[in-house]
Parts: sequence; structure tokens; C-alpha cells
Amino acid sequence: MHRRDFLRAAGAATLAVTTPETSDAGFAELPATESARSAATSNSSARESALMARTRARLSLDQAWRFHLGDIPFPRVIGHGWTYANAKAGNAGGAAAENFDDSTWRELDLPHDWVVEGPFDSGENPSQGYRRRGVAWYRRALRLDSSDRGKHLELQFDGIATHATVWFNGTVVSRNWSGYNSIYIDITPFARYGNRLNNIVVRVDADAMEGWWYEGGGIYRHVWLMKRSAFHIVSDGVCAQPRRNSDGSWILPVESALRNCGAESAQGDLAISLLDGNGNAVGQARASVSAAPLSEVTVNASVAVTAPDLWSIDYPALYRLSVALVHADAVVDESLCAIGFRTLRFDADKGFFLNEQPTKIKGVCVHQDHAGVGVAVPDALWDFRLRRLKELGANAIRCAHNAPAVELLDAANRIGMLVMDENRNFNVSPDYMRQLEWLIRRDRNHPSIFLWSVFNEEPMQGTEIGYQMVRRMVAAVKALDTTRPVTAAMNDGMFSPINVSQAVDVVGFNYQQDRYDAFHAAHPQLPLLSSEDTCSFMTRGEYLSDRGRHVMTSYDEEPASWGATHRAAWKAIAARPFIAGGFVWSGFDYRGEPSPFEWPSASSFFGIMDLCGFPKAAFYLHQAHWIKDRPILQIVPHWNWPGREGQLIKVMVFTNAQSVALLLNDRLLERKAVHPIDMVSWQVPYAPGKLEAVAFSEGREFARCIVETTGPPVELRLTSDRASLAGDGRDAQPVMVFAVDAEGRSVPNANIPVEFLATGGRVIGLGNGDPNSHEPEKGSQRSLFNGLAQLIVQSGSGSQGSLRLIAKSPGLRTAEISIDVTAATGPPFVPRTTPVQTLSDWRVSPATIKRPSPTASPGATDMNSWGWSRGEELRAPLAKSGWTVFRTRFLPMASVRARGGRIVFSMLTGRAEVWLDGKQIGRNAEQSPATLSAALPPGEGERTLTVLVYADARRHFGLGDVVTVEP
Ligand code: GAL
Repeated sequence: MHRRDFLRAAGAATLAVTTPETSDAGFAELPATESARSAATSNSSARESALMARTRARLSLDQAWRFHLGDIPFPRVIGHGWTYANAKAGNAGGAAAENFDDSTWRELDLPHDWVVEGPFDSGENPSQGYRRRGVAWYRRALRLDSSDRGKHLELQFDGIATHATVWFNGTVVSRNWSGYNSIYIDITPFARYGNRLNNIVVRVDADAMEGWWYEGGGIYRHVWLMKRSAFHIVSDGVCAQPRRNSDGSWILPVESALRNCGAESAQGDLAISLLDGNGNAVGQARASVSAAPLSEVTVNASVAVTAPDLWSIDYPALYRLSVALVHADAVVDESLCAIGFRTLRFDADKGFFLNEQPTKIKGVCVHQDHAGVGVAVPDALWDFRLRRLKELGANAIRCAHNAPAVELLDAANRIGMLVMDENRNFNVSPDYMRQLEWLIRRDRNHPSIFLWSVFNEEPMQGTEIGYQMVRRMVAAVKALDTTRPVTAAMNDGMFSPINVSQAVDVVGFNYQQDRYDAFHAAHPQLPLLSSEDTCSFMTRGEYLSDRGRHVMTSYDEEPASWGATHRAAWKAIAARPFIAGGFVWSGFDYRGEPSPFEWPSASSFFGIMDLCGFPKAAFYLHQAHWIKDRPILQIVPHWNWPGREGQLIKVMVFTNAQSVALLLNDRLLERKAVHPIDMVSWQVPYAPGKLEAVAFSEGREFARCIVETTGPPVELRLTSDRASLAGDGRDAQPVMVFAVDAEGRSVPNANIPVEFLATGGRVIGLGNGDPNSHEPEKGSQRSLFNGLAQLIVQSGSGSQGSLRLIAKSPGLRTAEISIDVTAATGPPFVPRTTPVQTLSDWRVSPATIKRPSPTASPGATDMNSWGWSRGEELRAPLAKSGWTVFRTRFLPMASVRARGGRIVFSMLTGRAEVWLDGKQIGRNAEQSPATLSAALPPGEGERTLTVLVYADARRHFGLGDVVTVEP
């Protein structure tokens, strides 16, 4: 950390304040005031955070969902009474009904991808990895404390694949058409507090596809319950993008959207602080704000910072922005986000500049699935994957072809990785424009994002329609973010008279590398980027293509017909300063798209790394191309070729050195110059032993690499990615499994079954990077593929101590490791809530003086003389004492049907008789409120419950509060 710089920045910070206006007019700068300065101390920010903890809560809602695989058709609604009721708020039917019996469903924690749990099936879609997708349901009960009344309550689904319908307390609250965008649902008006549970239901239709790659199915990202004050900062409502002034100082304009869902006008102050990496405030601003009931307002303010540490790929300095809403001297809401100060610029001749430094983009395209877990990727795996890419020498990723999990962006901010953030659906109709706008709003503060992409390879890219669509999308992006350029990944059409390249800031070329020069010559003013290139097939650890066995060589010799080898693709980019850089297809293998094969291959062959993140030969090749500041040297292949003695074997060396001497069993074969892109190779007659490469640069040796012929495997080994795990039930990490020979050397061609046992934690997925493998990704067994396998292990919630992992294979010594599990709580969470069947659908008769029959019921088409009740309220007093009938029909939960249970009235008010299916089962002798519990005998089918209540004149009466059916 450049601590001195931070301090200088802190001392020199000036304050800029603007008005509480709703306009987005320019940002006025005013001098700092003493009071604002003192509010900047970290003490005060700690105090504000403490206050905030009482007023805003972001609670994980990942735990304890009920899950049902397969659709549950809605019952056919027949008859006027049912039809009438079915059309009413709160009355969703079938599995969306509040009272639906989910007691026998599987209980699980999110994130969850059901598709990866299923078997491979040749009848399913190769593009989606030959796995059944289908439809499934999730349900969860939610208890809200009475102290939550008056707050703003929002459900946030970070991602559901693919189409989703969400009900809250029997009312449909969202229909969502993309598996990649978040869903924010204001549940405040629907919420119930205290005893009466709330009910969340999600129907997921993963038969709907949005891509041609594996997309998984289910609630595969996190779910949150946000509790904020009625007057609060809107989700994704803060826009803060630092800008560099021409004199080299910086300004951080902060636009904040606030909403007041209270009944009264609300006033307050926005207190904005910018904190450096050590938590010191380096700039503040304050602005007053007011909002009428049920209105939304926007407040602009700005913070000036003289000389911040810059965010860059090598030194990703992050600041934290706190936007606090202060009301009556208390912080009632606070939004926090990471901020990075950096400039970006594309030049049509010279490429991309980060902080005015020329920066060739060494990028990879990535999908979002990982071995063992599908698309339900634990947060820590994003970090792992980005660290792998950093190790590769990549400086950018392209999220192909959709919005990523926000945790990936957080990791990119921290690790120093540029991100091209891509929109999924090419459609400018309102539903779909909302997806694009959501993407920009959610992601626009992340310093890692340097480019928005509105589409990938759209057939209309070379037409006027495509142009008109992109024009609108670019305008929508610019309305929300003017600091980043917009691109579109075109694989054709760029030479048409009207085409999409005319509507974007940076033209993205997918493949088409032989057309770079012609395009640049024709449009010298347009910046150009290879948004996608390469597509070179490789199987990790294989060196001989055998298309019959669906195996591809690792020598970078098998490009797709539309692509190029890694070397040819990079050569075309590296040679042209006007190409800002490129994105290799692809960083990792992914499920689906098993080109050039189909069944039984189920995942891709394009990755620089396999599905687990294990390096293929392309990994070292790109290291040699991309890494300049440390020696890279790697020999391929391995040196285990029994039976091939005397035969020529191609040996390649990937290095950033100038020349390499190759030695076999200490005998010099030949020293050769290295082509910086094509690398260097030899044909070596195979003899077991030691193959050694000695690399030289500037006349001096700078690295050595040895591969040796190993003996057969005798022992398994396990290596964890990190030494410890947080015991919060969320932290996870990959563990590498391999086999060694008697001398402890990793055996590169071991393909043996392994069985695992975990205690003190769990194995949540297994993989080995073999695109042709059909072994299950869940369970406790996996074979090594060419020497390697991977387990993803996760801590248990509230665990501490160690996670022990044992790996066994017949005839081999067992491996065992222990990973420290440290006490950690993770984010605060909504406690598990056991669902309770609540009777909430009542008809209520008109009052009578005469005692009515317990079999009384409303006429089938009479929707008006009998009233309606949710069963939770007291009725207004009658003028004269008299009887009222409350009647409901319900299907008890499976266990109650089988073994019987109890009907519990928590506040029955009035003298009452309780009748079930024509038999009296209970009685309340008093007018005053009472708890009543009556036995419910077992029995199949729907039951009819009738409560005859006799109320004294001028006294409230009725069911009063929840009526539940309990086992
Ligand atoms: C591209 C496409 C990618 C992937 C790749 C390999 O055309 O943009 O999504 O499909 O080809 O086939």
C-alpha cells in the first residue's frame, strides 16, 4: 500500500456538496466545511455503521428451501366460486398456494443447480451438456418480526435459471425472462408480521434456454432479504464513477436514488464518505434530501480527491464509498460500494490505454460453470478461477455472453482483472431493455468493468434493423453510464452499408482475423478489438488426436474451421497496434458445446484450462506470450511413453526466453532459437528417463524445466487450494487429487478410480476435466483423468476445527489432508423456518340471531352474501348479539393426513363451536380471546372446518389471529 499517498489524499481532500435536487444537472463544488471534515473521521463512520446495523439488514435467504423437481400442473379451475376466488390477490392455486403441502419436499440450501445433479442422457441437448433441464419448484416459509413493520422489505434473487415466476403470500410478484439478471421484489405491502408466516414460492422453467452452452437450472445464485427504513436508498441506486480532471485531480460524482415508502414526507441528509484501503475518510460530501410519500428522488453530490491511488491490473487500489442517509441524527440507511480511480481510453490506432498506459488486452472469454457444482458456484470459486487466470497472465475476461455473478466482479476488482460485461438478449422491447438497464445499474461502479457489450454474434448485425436496435441499446447504456465505451461482438456484417459497427464506440470482431486490416483501412477512426478469437481444440494431457475416441492433441494444432490456433490468433493481434487486444475462446472448458464432437462428449474442448481449472498445454503457451516479468518455461508432453521406445515424439517448449537447449538423459539434443509466438519444437526419439529444457536469454541461463518418466502410481495425494476454510457454511475450495510413484513424482497418465470421505465439512462436487466422462459430479467417487481430479469441499455452517479428507484407490496408499476450519459467521441470515399450514381462506356468513347449522355454506354462485376472510382479523362488533359462521376447506399436510394432528386457534374470540366434517371437535365457552387446540383425526382428502361464533353485542369477535394445522 502506498500509505503516504493515501494520507496525502486524505489531507488534501476537498469537499463538494450539491443540492437535494432531483435533476441530474452538473455537480457544483463547494469548499469543505469544518463540520463535514469532522464527520469524516473513521470514528464517526464506525458510529454511523453501528447505527446502520440497526436500520438496514442484508440477510442471506439461502438456507432451508423446499425443492421439488418436476412441474406441478395447476389444477383446472372449474365452477364459479373457485373461478371467482382464483382471480383474486393472494389466492394463487396449486403449488403456488400458500397452503400447498411441501412437507415431503427435499430441503436444501442455495445456491442450487439441479441440472448438474442429473445423469447424462444422449437424448438431451448437446449444447446444454446432454442433461435434462425441465421445470422445478422451490418454496420457503419466512417469519418477519413485528419490529419489521414499517420497514421497506425487499427480496433479491441474484439469478434464477431460466424463466421464473415468483409468488409471495399467494400473489404473483414477479415473472422474469432471463436467467442472468437479478430480481428485486418489494414485498412490503404483502408482508405479514409475527405468528403469521409468509410464504415464498418460485416456479423455475429451465426448459427455456437463452444460450447454446450449459446454463444449469434453479436458484443458482444467492437470495437476500433486504430490510431498510421506509425512507431508503434504492437497490443499485448509487452511481459513483470517478473522473479525472484536466489538472490531474479527481472528482467523484455520486448520484443516489432514494425512495420513501412511508406514509409521511421524509427529510434527511445524505452523508457521503470515501474511505481509503485503511478505512480512513479521504473525502466527504453532504446534501439534504426530502421525498413525498411513495416517491423516488435523485440526489447529486460530489467528492473531490486530489491524488488517489490508481486502480490498475497490477495494483488494484480500492476505496470504499459510503452513502449514508441520516434522519434525526441517526443513520437510517447506508449503501457501501468499492470504488477504483482509473482512466480508460481506446485509440483507433494505438489500442487501449489504462491510466494512460498502453495496455494490450490479453483476455479470455468465460462461461460461468465449474466442475462439480454446475452454475451454483460458491463465491470462493470465483476468486479461485480469477487467480488461475491471473497466473495465466490474462488481464481481462469477457463474461460470455451474459451478466456474471456479482461476486465475480468483486473478485475482479480486488485481483485486478478488467471485465467486458455482456448483455444476454438482443431485443429492444421493454422487458428486455429492462434487463440491459439492470445490468448497467448493478455493475456501473465496479472499477474492473471497462467495456459494455450489447450482444454476441447476432444475425441482424449487418442490417438496418440490427443498427437501429444497437443505437437504442447504446443510448440506454449511455443514459446510465457515460464513462465506458460500448461494443458489440460481431462475427459478420461489418462491411454492410448499414451495420452495427456504426452504432458502437469500439468494434468487436469475433474471429474474421483476415479482415482486420481491411476494416481498419476503411474505418481508421473506429477502435477495434478482438472480442473473440482462437477456438483451438485440446484435451488436457493428450498429445495425439484420436477423433474416434474424441481426443484432441495438446500441441495447438487443431483449430476449429472458423478459428485459429492459439499462436496464429495471438500473432494476428500482437502484430497490430490498432487491435486493442483479444479474448481467447475460452479461458476454461464449460459444459455443453462439445465441438467438434457430440455424444458421448458432454463438455467443450476449447479451454486454456479444463472444467476444473487444471492447465492444458495452452496455459503455458499463453503464459509464454503474455508474461514478461518472470521466466516461463514448460515442456510438453510428459515423458511416460512405454512401448514407444525409439519412436519420434514431438517435444514443444513454451517459454518467454530467447533460446532453449533440450537434453535427454543429460545428453544435449539441440539448442534452438525460440519464436516468441510460435515457440519451439523437436522430434525426439523416445527413451525413458529425464527430458530437460534449459532456457537462455541475453546470453544467460534463466530457467530450467524437467519432465521425467515416472513409475506406476503407488500413493494418492491431496492438495488444497488454501490452508483454511471459513466455517460459515458458504466458504468452499477446490482440492486437487493426484497419484505419485515410489519416488513421489506425479504420474501424468494415471487414470484410476478414487473414493473420498469427508468429515468436518462436505464434498459438494467432483470433476476431472475429461469432456467425455459421464461419472456423476455429486457423491464420493471420481476417477483421475490423466493424473488429476478435483473435489470442491465446503465448510458446515457454524463449524470450527478441521475438515478431514481421505482419498482411497485400490492398491494405492491412502491420502489424507486436513484443512483448518476457522470460526466464521458469514453474512447474517434469515433463520430456518419450519413451514406451518395456516388456514387462511375463509367464507363468513351474515350474522343471525338463531344458531345456524354447522353444515351451513354459501351458495355456489353467491360471492356476496357470505363475506371473505384471511382468518387473521377480528370482525367489527354486531349491533345485537348473534351467530356468525366461519367456513373453510383444506387439504392437511401428508403427515397429518396419515397420523392426524391438531387445529390450533391462537386467538379465537367469542363463544364458539368448532366442527370438522360435520362433527364437533372443540368449543370455546368464553367471549374473551382464547387459544383453542382441537384434535384433527387422520384421513385423506379435503376437510371442511366450520366455526360457529356467538358474539355479544358491541364486542369484537372472530378468528382473531392465525389458525394453523399442526402435526
Ligand atoms: C462463437 C460463439 C461462442 C462459442 C464459440 C465456440 O461463435 O460466440 O459462444 O459458441 O463460437 O463454438
